[in-house]
Order: sequence, then structure tokens, then C-alpha cells
Amino acid sequence: MGKTDMLMVALVGFFALGCALGFANAVEARVKIAELESKLEASTSSEAKSAAEARVKIVELAEARVKIAELESKLARQSETWLQVAQLVGPPTSDKISDHVYNRMYDRFLSPMRHKDLKMLEIGLGCDMDYGPGASAKIWDAFLSQNSELWEAEVDAQCVARYKDKLGRIKAVTGDQNDPVVLDRWLSETGGNFDFIIDDGGHRNDQILNSFAKLWPSLKPGGYYFIEDMQMGRHSGAQSASKSPVVADVIYQWIDQLLMEPGMHTHVQPLSRQHKIPAKVDFVYCQDEACVIGKCPADDTKFHCK
Ligand SMILES: C[S@@+](CC[C@H](N)C(=O)[O-])C[C@H]1O[C@@H](n2cnc3c(N)ncnc32)[C@H](O)[C@@H]1O
Repeated sequence: MGKTDMLMVALVGFFALGCALGFANAVEARVKIAELESKLEASTSSEAKSAAEARVKIVELAEARVKIAELESKLARQSETWLQVAQLVGPPTSDKISDHVYNRMYDRFLSPMRHKDLKMLEIGLGCDMDYGPGASAKIWDAFLSQNSELWEAEVDAQCVARYKDKLGRIKAVTGDQNDPVVLDRWLSETGGNFDFIIDDGGHRNDQILNSFAKLWPSLKPGGYYFIEDMQMGRHSGAQSASKSPVVADVIYQWIDQLLMEPGMHTHVQPLSRQHKIPAKVDFVYCQDEACVIGKCPADDTKFHCK
């Protein structure tokens, strides 16, 4: 029997006793009844209060369980490599992993820093791909933290307008990567200051070199500049009317300069210095069909970092 029930029985009992005594002491009886009534009320409301509190606690517990599950899955996702994320996001699959092995450079350079809030720019949303636009954008969205800033640059403005709703948190700039005026506009619209930049655009030598010249200074110290599909530089279609040098040949010259302290005397003829290494190149890493150019960390004073 609960506390409330016991009080109820006492109240009824007392009333019965009062009747039996013929209400000899009616005033006393009324006082007793009033006391019992107020006790009953207090006990009922305290039971109701504890029941309500218990219900709140149950709801809070359920909410906490959901939060824990969310955090656990977030933690599990954060330890996934770039390749795992790229495979998990599902079709359409970017040619970064279907035709190429660019996951190697993205895993090597980006997976260790994926827990940080990063700002990125990729040239090439994929509007001319048979699998359609946004395949790599989807990977960046899944790979990078919630507070990261993601930008896609694309020459096909109509395609971007059509695809805009699917871009989610990814922002887009449009125009030709070969046009210095467009590149200046991209820098002003995005604010520059990128942690990494990916050139997966037109793949023509002049496009890659002109974009690099404008965008390299906007890379943060310690940042990475990825250039995909460099094999295209030796295809006839990759040459513009301006007969730009082949990007790979330019980069070979940069590497030759990088390997030697500036002004160092050489006994064997070095590669041509026609293409001077840009300021602040820390390293060049090349793999199948792609290279990454790393920018010197802020406090690095060695050779080309000064
Ligand atoms: C190889 S696709 C990008 C693929 C995409 N990143 C992916 O992984 O699925 C190249 C993209 O660059 C764009 N593009 C071509 N020439 C360009 C230019 N001059 N400026 C900017 N974007 C260009 C194309 O329209 C196309 O969307």
C-alpha cells in the first residue's frame, strides 16, 4: 500500500470514528480531517512530482544515449582514411579512385590532418564527366570537418547553377582558370588563404601554370597544391595555341633547383633555369600522374623557404 493510500484509509477511518462518537468534539474532528487532507494533498503531489522527475530523467537518459552514439560514430568516421571515405560516399565515383590512384597522395598528406578545420579549393566540379558533377565534392564534404570551408571552381556556370541545390555547404566560384582576371575574382570571392588547393580542371599546361601562378601565393604556409592528371600535359589536346611549356618539364626544373642551395657552384651542368622555382616551395612529391607541391612552414628559413 502506498503512502497516499494509507492516508486515504486514515482519513476515511477518522471520519467513521467521528460519526460513531456522534461528533462529540466536532471542532477537533474537523481540525484532524483538515490536517489529514493537507497531508494527503502533500503526499499526492510529492508522488506526482517524483513520477514527473523520473519521466524527465528517462528522457534525458535516452537523449544522452543518442548523443553518445552520434559521438561514437563521428569518432569512428574521423579515423577513416581519405580512400575509405571516398569509397563510402557511394556513386557516382570520382575518377580520382576509379581511373587513377590519387587516394595515395590525399591519404599521405590529408588524412593526418582531417580532424582540423581546413579551407580548400578544388578546380573542377566534374561537369564534363560522364558520371556527372559533384563526385569529388561529395568526398570533400564527407572527409572534412564540419567547420571546414569548401570551395569548388568551375568553368561551366550553367552546370553549377543547375547543381547548386546539391552542393550543400560547398560554395562555388565560376569562370575560366586560365584567365588572370577570373582568378583574381576567385581569390576575392573566396578570401584565399587555403590549406590546400587541387587543380582538377582543364588539365592543359597553360591552364595549370596560370592557375598556379595566381593561386600559389594564396596557399597558407605548410599548405599543399595538388595537380592531377599531369600525363595530359604531353597529349596534343593539352597544348594551347600559346605553346605553353609542359607542366612536368617545368616541375623537373623546380626540383633541380630545390635540390641545390641557391648560387651553389656545380661541376656538372644543371637543368635549365628557364623556369625559376617559385618562392616558398618546400618540397615536390610526384606519383602516378600527379604531383603535390608543398609550401614552406611559416618559420622555416632553409634555402627556398626564406
Ligand atoms: C576532370 S573534371 C573534374 C572531376 C571532378 N573533380 C571529380 O573528381 O569527379 C574537370 C572539370 O574541370 C572543368 N574545367 C575544364 N576547363 C576548365 C577551366 N578552364 N576552368 C575551370 N574549370 C574547368 C570541367 O568543366 C570539369 O567540370
